[in-house]
Amino acid sequence: MLLDQTRLPAETVEVRLETWQEVADAIRTMVVRGAPAIGIAAAYGVALAAARSGADDLGTLRDDVSRAGAGLAQTRPTAVNLTWAVTRMRARADAPHRDPAGLREALRREAEAIHAEEVARCHQIGGHGAELLRAGAQVLTHCNAGALATGGYGTALGVIRSAHRRDPSLHVWVDETRPLNQGARLTAWELREEGISATLITDSTAGWLMAQGKVDAVITGADRIARNGDAANKIGTYALSILARAHTLPFYVAAPTSTVDPGIATGEDIPIEHRRPDELGTAVPEGFGIYNAAFDVTPAANISAIITEHGVRRPPYAFG
Ligand code: MRU
Repeated sequence: MLLDQTRLPAETVEVRLETWQEVADAIRTMVVRGAPAIGIAAAYGVALAAARSGADDLGTLRDDVSRAGAGLAQTRPTAVNLTWAVTRMRARADAPHRDPAGLREALRREAEAIHAEEVARCHQIGGHGAELLRAGAQVLTHCNAGALATGGYGTALGVIRSAHRRDPSLHVWVDETRPLNQGARLTAWELREEGISATLITDSTAGWLMAQGKVDAVITGADRIARNGDAANKIGTYALSILARAHTLPFYVAAPTSTVDPGIATGEDIPIEHRRPDELGTAVPEGFGIYNAAFDVTPAANISAIITEHGVRRPPYAFG
């Protein structure tokens, strides 16, 4: 079951997925989105593939699981959590099992474990990150790095949630996050449900707020972090990091270690997803060119600290 994020905040609709191909479609079409959440969904997708496979021997079942894993891993390119989760599920499938029923059960439990661990990581991130925010802080966030994006609690929003528990006077500036408005639709929805004081702004308002002294810190999630700390996140994050630097404000990235890609030395190697032109939804002259990059990379030099479940890391970063 997935809460359909494309229909929030107007409608709260759950969709029931019966096959791994339906899970893959849900990830591709962003019924479920956010780096940890698509990893968790893919893990359940692999478990579903095993549950639905008619294979009655371990070899055939492992082949079906492998095919599903490959299909799920290809749905979106930037968030490494997707391949991280699928790799872990495949490793579980390749471990010794007494029979197909044992393998199916092991995969179901592994997906549930991935889900539970990701939520636990968010709570730890929230605790570490809350220490960085002063009482009455005004915090700016981009996109949605909340419970919706992580299977529960959130990374950047996890920090905000934990900080708000200590100090309810905290205020959040929410970037609308063009073109798909994850900030306006999803972060605003989560903050309202939680009773956290927040205000929506257009993405281009951030600099002017900073110039007026109305922002104390920027905090975002991440979709993939390279070994040197370069971090991919929703398009617009890079520009925010430059604005924060220009105004000598801290720029924090909150992400679980499932978002770290030890196979990539720098952000140059992070694959950036480009999505359909019509997502811009703007009336443009017929045939006019549209560039719709869904992510950008913030260089480690612009990141004051990266908050993982293990604590707050400061530059120079050396993940791996
Ligand atoms: O395209 P999306 O909505 O999946 O992009 C999501 C983001 O960029 C989030 O900020 C990121 O995944 C961090 S979620 C904890």
